[in-house]
Amino acid sequence: MNPFRRPLIAGNWKMNAGGQEACVLANAVAEKTRRADRVDVVVAPPFTAIAAVAHEIEETRGSIDVDEGFGVGVAAQNMHHLASGAFTGEISAPMLRDAGATWVILGHSERRQHFHETDHGVALKAKAALEAELRPIVCVGETLGEREGGETLAVIERQVRAFMAHFAESPGFGVVAYEPVWAIGTGKVASPEDAQIVHARIRELLAEVSEEVAEATRILYGGSVKGDNAVGLLEQVDIDGALVGGASLDADGFTKIVDAAQAVAEKLAEEEGAPPSRERAAVEEEARELEALDADAASDARDAGQLIAVDGPVDAPTSMSVPPTSNAATGIDPATDLDDAVDHRDV
Ligand code: PGA
Repeated sequence: MNPFRRPLIAGNWKMNAGGQEACVLANAVAEKTRRADRVDVVVAPPFTAIAAVAHEIEETRGSIDVDEGFGVGVAAQNMHHLASGAFTGEISAPMLRDAGATWVILGHSERRQHFHETDHGVALKAKAALEAELRPIVCVGETLGEREGGETLAVIERQVRAFMAHFAESPGFGVVAYEPVWAIGTGKVASPEDAQIVHARIRELLAEVSEEVAEATRILYGGSVKGDNAVGLLEQVDIDGALVGGASLDADGFTKIVDAAQAVAEKLAEEEGAPPSRERAAVEEEARELEALDADAASDARDAGQLIAVDGPVDAPTSMSVPPTSNAATGIDPATDLDDAVDHRDV
């Protein structure tokens, strides 16, 4: 697996969960996705909750830096392209950094559609985000009319060309999200094959900037991604993750998508002969320990059986005489051995 392209699952909360609710959701996501150590997880709350969510995640996971491997990243959903000035109601990249965001979603189709954002404006924002070391997730996608008119690839090309040169300086820092507008919030999802065609085209365009940018840039799919359709999409060679709207508001639903990404990454790593992930290694270690304990218990039982055979059934304890509170697998009798264990533990 390309180390720059760890699967990335980002939850776009849109104009939802802007207060206390955001902390509850962030905490649940941070808890539930803890085991997915092959996946980068990002949440994008509204501006009002960014600082609180960043704080909550730091408390739960110890970090908001996905590069550290155990953090959950925090994204804003938009920003102004200038750092400061007389722009009432706007928020800049440095302000987002101060609040704890390290990512920003740019050019989402809802912003292009309802707030008249242009390709040029989105490109200015992408440049400003990169300058402020805020990782941009730049969204592109065709409308239903454009798809039906056979214009999908032309639209995507126009949108990607507008900002792609800005990705040249730090390959892999910026992300592209392909979100067909007709699939957003509609329950209609692009087929993995159709999505792959567009993703491959986006990567081809990025290769015009440099091979390195093409290889290192994650291209996410977005539009009605759920736990039950995520695997098919994520298995495509050029789909490196998902931008999730509706399903990201439910921690369990979102975790299912993260788990799907983890499973796909595990499979790929196994095929490539990579060492198992921390999560997989821990599960395997646990299985080995249980197996060893079972073997010990079986050998104890055999010894007891031999005792019975030698001493006869009257004097020797039978398996029925084992106190019901004892743990056959560990051999620990909680009634007696636990006190010893407590007395001798290191404090
Ligand atoms: P959806 O939204 O998952 O609800 O379709 C995706 C998005 O808007 O990013």
